[in-house]
Amino acid sequence: MSVWTRHYILEKNSILLIVAIIVVVAIGGLVEIAPLFYLKSTIEAVDGVRPYTPLELAGRNVYVREGCYLCHSQMVRPLRDEVERYGHYSLAAESMYDHPFQWGSKRTGPDLARVGGKYSDSWHVTHLVNPRAIVPQSVMPGYPFLAKADVDSAAIASHMKTLRTIGVPYTEDQIANAAADMKAQVDPDGKSADAFGKRYAKAVVRDFDGQPGAPTEMDALVAYLQMLGTLVDFKLYNEKANLR
Ligand code: HEC
Repeated sequence: MSVWTRHYILEKNSILLIVAIIVVVAIGGLVEIAPLFYLKSTIEAVDGVRPYTPLELAGRNVYVREGCYLCHSQMVRPLRDEVERYGHYSLAAESMYDHPFQWGSKRTGPDLARVGGKYSDSWHVTHLVNPRAIVPQSVMPGYPFLAKADVDSAAIASHMKTLRTIGVPYTEDQIANAAADMKAQVDPDGKSADAFGKRYAKAVVRDFDGQPGAPTEMDALVAYLQMLGTLVDFKLYNEKANLR
């Protein structure tokens, strides 16, 4: 009896064939999946990526609360037209501290993964208050109330602690100073700007909403938008890949 004649037994008996298929697929699945459990991380570490500052994190919370992800994606795909329009395609490491991630699934408006630094703060404030003041045909809703809402600085430390339980490396120092750091990031003349800068590399200290005083949700959202996609120095990567 050759191997092939024995195979006829499977081919003529559908139940046996199903069992054999399940066994073979299970082996294939184990070979692919099991090694992943022994890797420390499947995300390649990239220089420059750091957890969000308390103000940026608060801005991100506003972004999630207002449902900006329903119209905006935050993921530049590795396709030529996207790379030419938005810049370097997104790296996994760039959203490694995002819980939940904001990749989105729909682009009524443009992708925002690299919007940081593209416009001035006052452009964003004007646009967020009334998008039609800048783009007359825009269908984006206005969010004028953000400029009047003070951001909740007391609650941000608990959010950072929660994120730490799922792997975001916030330090004790960062958590203890969360509320103060939030104020420091909107006060360039303040005394604590230096200490803040040491805790968060490359974080920008500015009066984002153009109104002095306590940080508003507008400050937080603009601070978040202005840092999106700016943490990784892509000059290095672009030279290698010969992109722009
Ligand atoms: C109903 C869909 C919709 C929602 C919701 C929405 N947007 Fe937009 N957004 C758009 C459209 C369309 C544009 C392009 C026209 C314009 O600039 O207004 C845009 C443009 C933008 C731009 C300029 C991007 C660029 O590269 O020119 C930013 C920044 C932005 N939106 C931020 C936000 C934020 C933050 C929120 C949530 C608070 C939000 N959007 C909610 C539809 C939306």
